[in-house]
Amino acid sequence: MTSCRVSIVEVGPRDGLQNEKAAVSTADKVALIGRLAEAGLRRIEATAFVSPRWVPQMADHADVMAGLTPRPGFTYSALVPNEKGAEAALAAGAQALAVFTAASETFSQKNTNCTIAEGIARFEPVLALARRAGIPVRAYVSCALDCPYEGEIAPAAVADVSARLLGIGCDEIAVSDTLGRGTPERTAGMVEAALRVVPATQIAGHFHDTHRRAIANVAAAWSLGVRVFDGAVGGLGGCPYAPGAGGNLATETLVAHFEARGIETGIDLPRLKSVATWIRSLTRTSGAGI
Ligand code: HMG
Ligand code: MG
Repeated sequence: MTSCRVSIVEVGPRDGLQNEKAAVSTADKVALIGRLAEAGLRRIEATAFVSPRWVPQMADHADVMAGLTPRPGFTYSALVPNEKGAEAALAAGAQALAVFTAASETFSQKNTNCTIAEGIARFEPVLALARRAGIPVRAYVSCALDCPYEGEIAPAAVADVSARLLGIGCDEIAVSDTLGRGTPERTAGMVEAALRVVPATQIAGHFHDTHRRAIANVAAAWSLGVRVFDGAVGGLGGCPYAPGAGGNLATETLVAHFEARGIETGIDLPRLKSVATWIRSLTRTSGAGI
């Protein structure tokens, strides 16, 4: 047994709820984030400061941030696509930012209406604002294995985008299997390519569980030295601009996987499972997981 620690990032309130059709009230979103923190999730992506016309589920972003109870040692982050989003997120009290692009040009266009290069150029003022505020910035590389429009993505494309994101100062690169079609073998190939340009300590793994291979993909990334993984409580979500994307890997499944191997997560699993049951009861009427 390995006695080391894994760091789990909870993305359910953002990556989960952005794609749930059932309306979840602002009060319930705030309660969800509070309950996740009480279960021991120290990094929580709380909301997204994106265009409400593109993702209406995140339109209450400022109210969600305003409702959160600050907790020492806990970080509430916000997803932002550009300077406008970063300014609003910082004004609302975000303690970390996350930017997002893709390893696929077509997905970048569909999701953010710009090329990968244009998207990365938009992140430069975001990074400047974050540096001034003294807070970290994670960058997602979506479609790191497959794209709904372009099919299989070459590992070299992930390495190229990751190097550019690291080059402009992003602190962490979250390589993301947006569609959840990946296999452990392809995950290993993609992570190995990313590792040629990004230190393992700055890589996070973000897997969707469409074909129930997310845990096997986590294990493949772990064996290569990745120690940060994302989960969404209850397996919420998908991506509104990625047809075919299933829910995220459930955080409780991720925690159970590591705890069973003697790897500490710092998370109270029974408590987390009760949060999953509760949030699922609020969203189960939805047609999530397009
Ligand atoms: P655009 O229409 O090209 O932008 O959208 P624009 O600059 O022309 O602005 C259009 C309007 O949006 C203007 O308002 C702007 O002010 C406003 P108007 O004058 O027409 O009233 N606007 C904004 N409003 C609020 N917040 C902002 C913002 N920026 C501009 N930050 C844009 C470009 C990037 C804004 C748009 O495409 C967008 O918001 N896209 C977000 C899509 C999204 O959130 N997708 C889901 C998240 S990504 C994902 O799920 C994958 C990930 O989870 C990893 C994985 O699983 O793979 C990260
Ligand atoms: Mg995702």
